[in-house]
Parts: sequence; C-alpha cells; structure tokens
Amino acid sequence: MGGRNEPDPNNDDAGDVAAIRRAIEAGVRHIDTAELYANGRAEELVGEAARPYDRLSLFIASKVRETKLGYDAVLESCERSLERLKTDYLDLYYVHKPNPAIPAEETAAAFNELLRRGMIKNVGISNATVETTEKFASFLDSPIFAVQCHYNLIVREPVLKGVLEYCRRKKIHFIAWRPVQLPSEKLGIRSLAERGAYPLLDQIADKYGMTPAQTAVRWLTQQENVGIVFKTKNPEHLKEIIDAQNVTLSDEDTEALTRDFPRMEAEGFTTGGKAPLI
Ligand SMILES: NC(=O)c1ccc[n+]([C@@H]2O[C@H](COP(=O)([O-])OP(=O)(O)OC[C@H]3O[C@@H](n4cnc5c(N)ncnc54)[C@H](OP(=O)(O)O)[C@@H]3O)[C@@H](O)[C@H]2O)c1
Repeated sequence: MGGRNEPDPNNDDAGDVAAIRRAIEAGVRHIDTAELYANGRAEELVGEAARPYDRLSLFIASKVRETKLGYDAVLESCERSLERLKTDYLDLYYVHKPNPAIPAEETAAAFNELLRRGMIKNVGISNATVETTEKFASFLDSPIFAVQCHYNLIVREPVLKGVLEYCRRKKIHFIAWRPVQLPSEKLGIRSLAERGAYPLLDQIADKYGMTPAQTAVRWLTQQENVGIVFKTKNPEHLKEIIDAQNVTLSDEDTEALTRDFPRMEAEGFTTGGKAPLI
C-alpha cells in the first residue's frame, strides 16, 4: 500500500486507508507493515487508518530493512517507524531480511535496547533459515515471537528447509506472507486467485463452494501454527478470506493439495526475482 519501493504519487491513499479500516471493522487485528514498503509511506497510511481505534485493540507489526541492521541504525529506524505509525510502541518488530554483512549480535543488542525502552513488545525475523534464526535468538533477551516467510501452495521453502517445523517445536508463531501469491510473468507464476490457472485448486474449491483464493488461504491456515498476512483493497476479497476460516478442508483434500499441487519447493520468491531464505 502507498506504492512499491517509493511512494507512488498516484496512489489511492484514501482507498488504502479505507481498506485497512474495513479489515479492522471486520475483526482483523494484526496489521503488518515495514519501513521498506513505499519507503515509509505504507506505515504512514497504517498510522492514519489506525488513528480512530483503541491502540490496545490492535496488533501492529513492522520491520527494519536489511541495510539498517547496525546498532544505531535499528534504533533510528524504529523511532522513524513509530513516528510514521503515530504510536509509541510496536507489538512486533522484525528483521525484514538477514544481512550476513552485519553481525547478528549487534542487531540483537539493538532489539534488546528497544525491548528495554518499551518501544517494541516482541521480536521477529523474516526470510531467515533455522540456523540464522537460532543465532539471532541466542543474543536476544526475549524468545523470538514470530517468524515470517514466503509460504503458500506454490512456494514451500519453509517446509523444505525445516523452518515451519522448527517454529512448531519452539512455539514461535509462523506467519506466511503472500498467501494468495501475486502473479509473476518473469517467474512463470500465476496467481492462486486465478480460476483456470490450477485445475486441482479449482476442483477442490468447487467442492466446497469456495474461490481458489479462499481454498489456497484455508490450506495454509488449517495447518498447525500457520497464520497469514494478506493484502486486499477489495471488500469482497476481504470477506472471502475471513469466511474461508469457517470452512474445513477434508484431510484427503488437504493432502492432495500438499502432495500434488505444482510447486517450487526449493525457493522463495519475491516479485523482483528469486529470494531464498538466508
Ligand atoms: N516479510 C516479507 O519479506 C514480505 C514480503 C512480501 C509481503 N509481505 C507481507 O505480506 C502481505 C501480503 O503479501 P502480498 O500483498 O505480496 O500477497 P497476497 O496477499 O498473497 O496477494 C495480494 C494480491 O492478491 C489479491 N487478493 C487478495 N485476496 C484475494 C481474493 N480473495 N481473491 C482474489 N484476489 C485476492 C489482491 O488484490 P485486491 O487488492 O484486488 O484484492 C492483491 O493483488 C504484504 O502486505 C506484507 O505485509 C511480507
């Protein structure tokens, strides 16, 4: 929301704010953003959207980008995020993506300081292997609260690399980003929301009277310890995703999707290209 890497001057800001408020009104409490998104503009829009609500009723998560993982840079980034979000604390603050050039111990020391100052309540890490997560955790004063990875019917990297299993074992919330999957011509990926793109998904969706997007989302949220962060500006899509939580896919259908869906096991993807866990 707000643009891609930079703020988009033609962005429909009012539409974005309305979409976030619509989600809150519908019962969504966990809002995910990052300083990277539209270079801070997304956080400003979240701040604006959250303004009329009781702060304690919301769970706001943001992320510090991989180039800002030095001690002073983390503190500075968090302060700027809080200003843009117009709040005095984050419920969850993630390392957006590990940076092997910056020692994990230094980044963790800054997160410890943010915890101590009450600027963040919980620590997370995104797009990281088990090894990187464990190393970061070893320097933290509090256990890691959440891990966020690209995970959906197509992209199974967190399963292949044991991240999901690790989170279950350690009781760390696992959050799947891009659950519906944006299409990418470059990578030959079609959206999981596109009817006709994946016959197996259409077939199972039809059986439950759901859309392919609902089925893809439910396949994720039915798994033990898997939550999602999704983006939609469309009120019908929002309702679809919420309503999907009331449907239970049978074990047989879940297994068919897990086993037979055409997937890219070994890699995580972003729209910009390959971005495996590091
Ligand atoms: N940690 C990370 O590195 C990382 C990376 C990327 C994203 N994220 C987080 O994950 C969130 C979601 O990722 P994302 O936006 O890339 O992917 P996504 O939520 O899987 O897909 C969003 C796209 O799907 C469409 N859509 C949503 N629900 C739909 C439905 N029910 N039916 C049909 N289309 C639907 C949306 O269009 P409409 O608006 O028209 O509905 C939008 O174009 C982001 O907002 C961000 O917070 C994290």
